Amino acid sequence: MTAGHSILLCFFVFFLAIQIAAKNQKEALDALYKAKFFRNSDAADSSEFFFRNEAADQNTEVLPTVEIHDQAGRKQQDKIERLPGQPPRVELSQYGGYVTVNKTAGRAFYYYFVESPQNKTSLPLLLWLNGGPGCSSLAFGAMAELGPFRPRSDGKTLFHNRFSWIHVANVLFLESPAGVGFSYSNTTSDYQNNGDKNTAIDNYAFLVNWLERFPEYKDRDFYISGESYAGHYVPQLAHVLLSHNKKAGKTIVNLKGIIIGNAVINDETDEIGRYDFFASHALIADQTANDIKKYCDFSPNVMEQNSQCIALSNIAYSNMRMIDVYNIYYPLCLNSSLTHLPKKASVMNYDPCSNSYTNAYLNQAEVQWAMHANVTKLTHDWEPCSDVINGWSDSPSTVIPLLQEFMDNGLRVWVFSGDTDGRVPITSTKDSIASMKLPVKKSWYPWSVNNEVGGYAEVYEGELTLATVRGAGHEVPSFQPRRALALITHFLQGTRLPTATPPSQSL
Ligand SMILES: *[C@@H]1O[C@H](CO)[C@@H](O)[C@H](O)[C@H]1NC(C)=O
Ligand SMILES: *[C@@H]1O[C@H](CO)[C@@H](O)[C@H](O)[C@H]1NC(C)=O
Ligand SMILES: *[C@@H]1O[C@H](CO)[C@@H](O)[C@H](O)[C@H]1NC(C)=O
Ligand SMILES: *[C@@H]1O[C@H](CO)[C@@H](O)[C@H](O)[C@H]1NC(C)=O
Ligand SMILES: *[C@@H]1O[C@H](CO)[C@@H](O)[C@H](O)[C@H]1NC(C)=O
Repeated sequence: MTAGHSILLCFFVFFLAIQIAAKNQKEALDALYKAKFFRNSDAADSSEFFFRNEAADQNTEVLPTVEIHDQAGRKQQDKIERLPGQPPRVELSQYGGYVTVNKTAGRAFYYYFVESPQNKTSLPLLLWLNGGPGCSSLAFGAMAELGPFRPRSDGKTLFHNRFSWIHVANVLFLESPAGVGFSYSNTTSDYQNNGDKNTAIDNYAFLVNWLERFPEYKDRDFYISGESYAGHYVPQLAHVLLSHNKKAGKTIVNLKGIIIGNAVINDETDEIGRYDFFASHALIADQTANDIKKYCDFSPNVMEQNSQCIALSNIAYSNMRMIDVYNIYYPLCLNSSLTHLPKKASVMNYDPCSNSYTNAYLNQAEVQWAMHANVTKLTHDWEPCSDVINGWSDSPSTVIPLLQEFMDNGLRVWVFSGDTDGRVPITSTKDSIASMKLPVKKSWYPWSVNNEVGGYAEVYEGELTLATVRGAGHEVPSFQPRRALALITHFLQGTRLPTATPPSQSL
C-alpha cells in the first residue's frame, strides 16, 4: 500500500465525522473533497484534549497564555450602522470587526455581535460557533439559523427572522479558526497548521480581548453554543476557560454552561450511529448496516479499515447521493441562481438554496465595508466553508471527558439533536451520551412548544439534558426556528423543557 493510500484510509473514520457543508452540501460526502482536506496532515493526533507538559509530569496541564491588547475606542469603531438591504423599522445594535488573536503572526478573527433589543443589560452573553472544520458562523449561525436576518434570493436584501436567539441573549458569532470566512492570518502557513488545540487557544485569546473591548460583558453570565464539529470547539474552549478560572482562583470569564447540537463528540458512537440511522430510516438495507458493523472497526485507535468495510460504506453512500444527508426529508437546491427580484421568503419555509444567497450577499464590497470585514483585502473570496484551510493536526476521538468535567464543576450541559439529520444523527448522540452511563433523573419524555411536541428529552443527574428537536436537520434553527428558540430559552433560563400533555378532549 502506498503512503498516500494509508493517509487517506487513516482518516476514513475521522473524515466521515466531519461536516463539510461547503458551498454545496451534497459535495460534502465526496471522497475527493475529504481527501483534499487532509492531504497535508500526516496523521491527526487523536489523543485526549489536554495541554501536556512535555518536559515535566505528563499529567500537569500547562495552560496556554495569551496576549491582551488595549481595546480602547475599538468598540465604537466596530458599530455597524445598518447592514445593506436590512429591512426597515428593525433597529438593532450590531457590531462587527476584527480582534487580533496573535500579533506576531498577524492573526485576527472576525466577529459579528448583535445585542438583544429586549433587555441587553440583563440578558446573558451567548457565543455561537459553527463546525466544519472550516465552516463560518456567519454563513450558517448568523445568516441561516439564529441571527436577526436572512438573505433573500436576490443576494442583496435581507428579511427579518422573528425567531432569532437575540430575543433571549446577546449573541456573538465568531469566524474561527484563521482562514474561515473573514478571519485570516498574515502568516499563511497558519492555514496548514490549524487543529483543535490551536483553535481553542485562539478562541480563548479572542474572547479575553473581546471582553476588553466590551467590558460591560465581563461579569455577565456567559454560555457557549454551537453545532456539528463545534462539538469539539465548544467544550475545548470551555475547558480552557474553566482551567484559567481555577488557576487564577477567581472568575475571569463567567462561564455558566454549554449547549451543542448534532455535535461530533465521540467518533466511535458517532460513526456506528449513522448506519443505525440510515437503516432505521429505510435509506440503506438492514443487511448493509449489519455487515458494516461486522466488518468495520470504528474504535478510536483503528487507523485503517479493511476492503469489505470500504466497499460496504460505498454502497451506503451511493444510496445517499440524491438526498440531503443533513436533512433527509428536505429538498436539494436544484437551481442556485440568484433572482432579479427577491422571491417571497419566510423563516417558516426553509429554502435549500439560501447558502448561495448568503454567499452573494457577503461577497459584496459594500456589505464588507458596512460590516468592517476584509479590511486587509484578502486574496481569496469569503466562503461558507473554507477552501484556504487544508490540513488539521489534532482531533481527539472523544470530548466526553470534558462534558463530565463540566458537570463535576456545576456547569449546565445540554446536548440537542435535530432528528432528521443523517450527518451526526440522533442515534449517534443517544449512544454517545449513553456511554457516559449517567443516572437518569427524568426519563425520555415529549417536550412541548406552542401546543405541539417540540421533541423528546431526557435529564440526567449532574444537570445534563439531552433533547431532540422534531423535524429538524443538522442546522436545527434553520429547519425548526420556533422549536429552536424554545430550546435555547429554557437552556438559558435553566428551566426544564415542559412536558407535552395530550390535547384536552373537546366535547
Ligand atoms: C503565535 O502564533 C505562532 C504560529 O503562527 C506561534 O508559533 C506562537 O507561539 C503564537 N504566539 C502566542 C503568544 O500564542
Ligand atoms: C496583516 O497585514 C496587514 C497589511 O500589512 C496589516 O494591515 C494588518 O494589521 C495585519 N494584521 C494583523 C492582525 O496584524
Ligand atoms: C431588564 O432587566 C432588569 C434586571 O434584571 C430588570 O430589573 C428590568 O425589569 C428588565 N426590563 C425589562 C423591560 O424586562
Ligand atoms: C434558474 O433560475 C434562474 C433565476 O430564476 C432562471 O433564470 C433560470 O432559467 C433557472 N435555470 C434552470 C435550469 O431552471
Ligand atoms: C476581500 O476583498 C477583495 C477585494 O478587495 C476581494 O477580492 C476578496 O474576495 C475579499 N475576500 C474576502 C474573504 O472577503
